[in-house]
Amino acid sequence: MDNPPPTPIVDVQVDAADVEAALRGDVRDGLTAQPKDLPPKWFYDHAGSVLFDEITRLEEYYPTRAERQILLRESDAVIEIVGADTFVELGAGTSDKTRALLDSAVAHGHLQRFIPFDVSETFLRDSCNKLAQEYPSLTIHGVAGDFDRHIPLIPSGGRRLVAMLGGTIGNYAPVARAHFLDTLAATMHTGDHLLLGTDLVKDRSRLVDAYDDASGVTAAFNKNVLAVINGHLGADFDLQRFDHVARWDDQAEWIEMHLRSQESHNVLIPSLGLDIGFEEGETIRTEISAKFRQDGVERELASAGLEMVAWYTDDDGDFGVSLSRR
Ligand code: SAH
Ligand code: AVI
Repeated sequence: MDNPPPTPIVDVQVDAADVEAALRGDVRDGLTAQPKDLPPKWFYDHAGSVLFDEITRLEEYYPTRAERQILLRESDAVIEIVGADTFVELGAGTSDKTRALLDSAVAHGHLQRFIPFDVSETFLRDSCNKLAQEYPSLTIHGVAGDFDRHIPLIPSGGRRLVAMLGGTIGNYAPVARAHFLDTLAATMHTGDHLLLGTDLVKDRSRLVDAYDDASGVTAAFNKNVLAVINGHLGADFDLQRFDHVARWDDQAEWIEMHLRSQESHNVLIPSLGLDIGFEEGETIRTEISAKFRQDGVERELASAGLEMVAWYTDDDGDFGVSLSRR
């Protein structure tokens, strides 16, 4: 047979037991801490991934539109520079915008393998099945894994383009971000490239609106983390007793999402033996979404041993995509 059959491979580095153990640790640490916080990776069960997909189509949520404009315009140039045979996408989601790059790479003729990597296994499987149908000339090799533990387990070999789109890197605070970039760069070889999407600093009201949309989809996405904890750990969070909050921190230059308790009450998490008290107005920080400037991105890449070779923005200067080389 000339072409491989369109059957994707999916490696599962995070099985159900693993997910549960990691969630237990994060919930115990985060909800017994002062102030309370939870890592954003727990938004993305299947329902949360569907809600995120809805966010990407909201009028207020400009990053997806802006990044799509950049990718449609610059994909050929990027693919020409990188000449990769293996394309890894971190936090791939639906790989919707990524298709601009895949189309250019297939037309260019060198690409053999696409490796979408994501923590949301069911969503990843659906996406891999669609990609295998759409790109029969490529080997689609999904990896269900966690950025914080499984980057070194991504299949190796080949001349690589690694992409992390959507501004997902901004969901790391600076120290964790540096650690993540170091870990990632260590898996890349000389001549491999990183294509990194970063949302840019802009007017506060547009930023806040993007994270507090009028139709309440982002609020539902934020509260979904409580539903995930109820579902996996048998907690009794009442989602209606929490409000969605999005704030811009001018000093740190990031958006913070919180869930704010409307009243003083307790939440039981029997499987952890925890009884968590909430004061009226107390919040759980559920996400930061850092916004960047070109010089800061260049500096952070350089610290990880990556040299920025191109910087692309959309017409309005809302979003930046950098191409860097190991
Ligand atoms: N790249 C897509 C999706 C961005 S949403 C876009 O640009 O629109 C962030 C994606 O990262 C989600 O698909 C989510 O499931 C995934 N993700 C979040 N935290 C993760 C983690 N710790 N490890 C692996 N994937 C993660
Ligand atoms: C995935 N990540 C880049 C999104 C962001 O904008 O920080 C997640 C998100 N949170 C609220 N809306 C979208």
